[in-house]
Amino acid sequence: MIPLQLFDPASSTYTYILHDPATRDALIIDPVDEQLDRDLAVLQSRQLTLRWAVETHAHADHITSAGRLAEHTGARTAVPAGCGIGTAAVQLQDGETLAFGGETLRALHTPGHTAGSMSFLWRDHVFTGDTLLINGCGRTDFQSGSATDLYRSITGVLFALPEGTTVWPGHDYHGRSHSTIGAEKAGNARVAGRSQEEFVALMESLHLPRPRRIDEAVPANLHSGLRHDADGATLQAPRAAEGYAGDVSAQQAWQWVQDGQAVLIDVRSDAEREWVGQVPGAIPVAWKQWPGMVMNADFDAQLRAAVPEGGRAVLLCRSGVRSVAAARRATELGITAYNILEGFEGDPDSHAQRGKKGGWRRQGLPWRQG
Ligand SMILES: [Fe+2]
Repeated sequence: MIPLQLFDPASSTYTYILHDPATRDALIIDPVDEQLDRDLAVLQSRQLTLRWAVETHAHADHITSAGRLAEHTGARTAVPAGCGIGTAAVQLQDGETLAFGGETLRALHTPGHTAGSMSFLWRDHVFTGDTLLINGCGRTDFQSGSATDLYRSITGVLFALPEGTTVWPGHDYHGRSHSTIGAEKAGNARVAGRSQEEFVALMESLHLPRPRRIDEAVPANLHSGLRHDADGATLQAPRAAEGYAGDVSAQQAWQWVQDGQAVLIDVRSDAEREWVGQVPGAIPVAWKQWPGMVMNADFDAQLRAAVPEGGRAVLLCRSGVRSVAAARRATELGITAYNILEGFEGDPDSHAQRGKKGGWRRQGLPWRQG
């Protein structure tokens, strides 16, 4: 029996549903707020009764739906005790188990990505959250992370499991779904063949960009994803946008482009690209042109030529305003179009200068001038 693996493309997060085939009691690991409707539909169509909504840690890149799932289904929430998620019904300690029907999930404390992070063992499957990824591992540079702890958790706890144990990660950015303890032991690019000192040095040299949603996601996740306004009413998380497919971060857009999942369209004018800078490989399809910022009469034809039939486009402008208008038009043309948040330069700061408040150029992604 294998777990049901579900994917949230916006955050590249994997959610897992396990169940007891005899009783139909189920458990979900790392559910994503934007996917609540999908997950409820999956549970219903398979006639599963959700008993537990479980987190591997307090996530920085997406908001959990655990609290809302509990409200909808009557499931209870369970979290690692060291994560500060006070709203959860159960605070798990290392080695504790959760029962669903005749099945059991066992908590393994695997600190390092965050101090409280846990992995979960079910039969011969291990759900590793952001502790161990396929050919990689979670970052350790924020949220109480520790590269030393992560090394010990991966090599001492996870690699102590039988080599045939299937590894189900919390994320994958390259379309891979699962691995094994044996394969990661032998070939994980971050860990295999490295001493603790070498691993710590490697982790310290990564200099990763700050997750875009961290300021929003972590506080929400410390309350099981339930955010309340002044009246105590539950606020909905941001959803797909009106009139186009949705908003994505520059990092997400670039990942899709690199993976061949989307075409990057630069909707700024020729002058802006020439003088301010541009992203290598982006296809220029101006929304408006200098002089005078008049509408580009050939926008539709140029866009159709740039995006293959049934393809996906990510649209970049200066600050994320024109790209919304262009994404709406692209949607009318039958293209799955996403707006890239903050654009190339971001918003102007208090000195009316652009480039210091967000934008593609600030994210450490490729671009060049001229
Ligand atoms: Fe994480």
